[in-house]
Amino acid sequence: MNSPIQNLLVVGTGTMGGGIAQVAAAVGATVFLYDLVPGAAVKARQRIEDSLRRAETKGYVTATVRERTLKGLRPIECMDEARGVAVVVEAVREELSVKQAVFQELEKKTQPETSLWTNTSMISITEIARPMRHPERLVGVHFFNPVPRMELVEIIAGERTSEATLVTAEASVRHWGKTPVRAPDRPGFIVNRLLDALLREALALHEEGVSHMEIDTAVRLGLNFPMGPMELMDLVGLDTIQDCLKSQAAGMKRPVDCGTDLPRLVAEGKFGKKSGEGFYTYET
Ligand code: 3HC
Repeated sequence: MNSPIQNLLVVGTGTMGGGIAQVAAAVGATVFLYDLVPGAAVKARQRIEDSLRRAETKGYVTATVRERTLKGLRPIECMDEARGVAVVVEAVREELSVKQAVFQELEKKTQPETSLWTNTSMISITEIARPMRHPERLVGVHFFNPVPRMELVEIIAGERTSEATLVTAEASVRHWGKTPVRAPDRPGFIVNRLLDALLREALALHEEGVSHMEIDTAVRLGLNFPMGPMELMDLVGLDTIQDCLKSQAAGMKRPVDCGTDLPRLVAEGKFGKKSGEGFYTYET
């Protein structure tokens, strides 16, 4: 790739979509934000603005970067407004059929040379691409939460992904200040396969009566992790974690093992930090 990506479309403006939009806009790209839920893209831009203000107060970003980022973020209500972008990043719900439907629509609504990225956490890129007419355009580009802070991006090729699509993705995320690592198209890729084991054992310990605070303190101090598994689940979102654990189990062809605490919290609408309560309670 000779020049950095000038414009992209982010489909799905939740935590991950918003974070990806933020890091791309921070280096001067125009980022269209689209969500199926009316008004969600505008809300995402507002969330990013609030987060940038906090980041500026802490000295992480300058006023110039904050202003450049906000200038580049364009919420849209119709995907057609972003026809002609160089890249589309999909960050919708972690469900194979949902992602497949999004890419079938994107194939129709974008130029043939547009790269299509999926920010899936766990789902096979080959499977997502299966109904596509041009699967060579699709690549897995997996960011980590919180996106502005996490340096790693896993780049995953499906069976039919072209080398050009891979190279564009790697060069782009490098330009955004990230470090790409090529990961295999296996369930969980690298990081989430390892994380899956940690989280399942943490949930098991919790069900055996060990408090979430004890688990977190032990992992933070005993393994030097920046945060423990229970607070990490709250940060990522308990609904997302549940989807990930189910998807990983399906991919590895073993029974789902989420315990009972996690499904109960999700059923009660306690999704972690974003909803104000999960294993911990947060001030809104
Ligand atoms: N630009 C913009 N914003 C920035 C920034 C930058 N350069 N640097 C920091 N910020 C923002 C953050 O986005 C965040 O914003 P918020 O106010 O909206 O929450 C805030 O500053 C917090 O950052 P801090 O650096 O002040 O916070 P801490 O020093 O307490 O660190 C942490 C927090 C980075 C979350 C740290 O505890 C950590 O690294 N935890 C582990 C995170 C982790 O493991 N993530 C991976 C999760 S797994 C995953 O994502 C995979 C998925 O598929 C499930």
